[in-house]
Amino acid sequence: MELIVAADSKWGIGKNGGLLAHLPSDMKYFREHTEGKAVVMGRKTLESLPGRKGLPNRVNYVLTSNPDFRAERCIAVHTEEELWDAISRYEPKNVFLIGGATLYNWFYSMCDRLYVTKMEGDLGADTFITNFDEDGSFEVVSESEPVTENGITYRFVVYQKKAK
Ligand SMILES: NC(=O)c1ccc[n+]([C@@H]2O[C@H](COP(=O)([O-])OP(=O)(O)OC[C@H]3O[C@@H](n4cnc5c(N)ncnc54)[C@H](OP(=O)(O)O)[C@@H]3O)[C@@H](O)[C@H]2O)c1
Repeated sequence: MELIVAADSKWGIGKNGGLLAHLPSDMKYFREHTEGKAVVMGRKTLESLPGRKGLPNRVNYVLTSNPDFRAERCIAVHTEEELWDAISRYEPKNVFLIGGATLYNWFYSMCDRLYVTKMEGDLGADTFITNFDEDGSFEVVSESEPVTENGITYRFVVYQKKAK
């Protein structure tokens, strides 16, 4: 499994149930990496998507404890075991963990690659993920030139799990 996230300098990723910033080039990057693949998200992240629908051109798995959960284009999974069963049929590089904080923090250590859009500055988040630089299990394998959009400067950074 791989992971994709946009985080600010404090590893904040969200505020009031939504994202910290609207960054068109980052949205394109996200789409290019995830289209045609399976994506895994928590129920709250699904609720934050337009129309509360799964993303088009992707197989959307939503983790929720609610047995009655239904949403368009989504496959609900109710336990971690059910989730692993569902994604085990894919090659690891074809499954992306797309949030939110609860899922990132629980499952990032099972990911091989982390695609982190690193936004400069403290953007006032109320939801945070693990600092992957301090974690020590991953190393940076690529980092783009900075991009500035809507007053926010950011880079596309890719981390790879270190060999044991
Ligand atoms: N910056 C980014 O790249 C990015 C990406 C995605 C999301 N976000 C942001 O992250 C925030 C949402 O994150 P969050 O941590 O609050 O929510 P979340 O991870 O999206 O969803 C949490 C929900 O997932 C379900 N869940 C989690 N673990 C489970 C388990 N083991 N078994 C069954 N169900 C489980 C539960 O749903 P039930 O309550 O239904 O049981 C739980 O309430 C929002 O602000 C969003 O915009 C940011």
